[in-house]
Amino acid sequence: MSLAYRIMYRVGFTPWDTDRVPTELSQLVEGPGALPAGRALDLGCGTGTQAVYLAGLGWRVTAIDALTRPLKRARARADRAGVRVDWILGDVARLWGLGVEPGFTLAFDRGCFHGLDEARRAACAAAMTALAAPGATLLMMAFAPHRIPAAPAGIEESEILGRFGGWQLISARPDTEDEITGPLRNVPRTWYRLVRA
Ligand SMILES: C[S@@+](CC[C@H](N)C(=O)[O-])C[C@H]1O[C@@H](n2cnc3c(N)ncnc32)[C@H](O)[C@@H]1O
Repeated sequence: MSLAYRIMYRVGFTPWDTDRVPTELSQLVEGPGALPAGRALDLGCGTGTQAVYLAGLGWRVTAIDALTRPLKRARARADRAGVRVDWILGDVARLWGLGVEPGFTLAFDRGCFHGLDEARRAACAAAMTALAAPGATLLMMAFAPHRIPAAPAGIEESEILGRFGGWQLISARPDTEDEITGPLRNVPRTWYRLVRA
């Protein structure tokens, strides 16, 4: 999957990269009953829109992506915003090896986990469960499974719940906000919110 992303970033076909902070995230950290700023982990952070937004609200953010090209743009975004983010170039399936410290209170994933293969999903979910603080929130946007080739496979809610067994599902809401272009535009997308038990 990294090869597909590598090509897409290189040719500039990145329909997910809207520069917009999703309402699901802003309501979680700014709305009534907002989470207090703590430690956030952004999985597959891309060009850093969400990581920089959270850092601007006082979160201590670690943001991981497998590719140098989006991370370079993410660093420039943080510089422009005058915020500090710990950017990590690496595979989200290797959180332990990347030196991610235990105790994050928010994990954010918009479009990464649903594209991982089986082994990576297992490793990533296990490490996240082990590294999360009790009561930590996971906010994940994922596509439903589909048959479109060379795209992230998507994931069923039941698989998310199975892989994140130590977490409780708080809500699962359709993502109707972004007008996504490209071959996946008609595939249903869902925001999942879970809390570490
Ligand atoms: C659909 S993009 C979403 C980017 C960003 N979250 C956003 O909302 O704009 C998915 C991102 O996950 C990254 N990614 C895919 N597999 C990864 C892996 N195993 N480890 C780290 N990053 C990965 C890709 O390079 C890409 O930047």
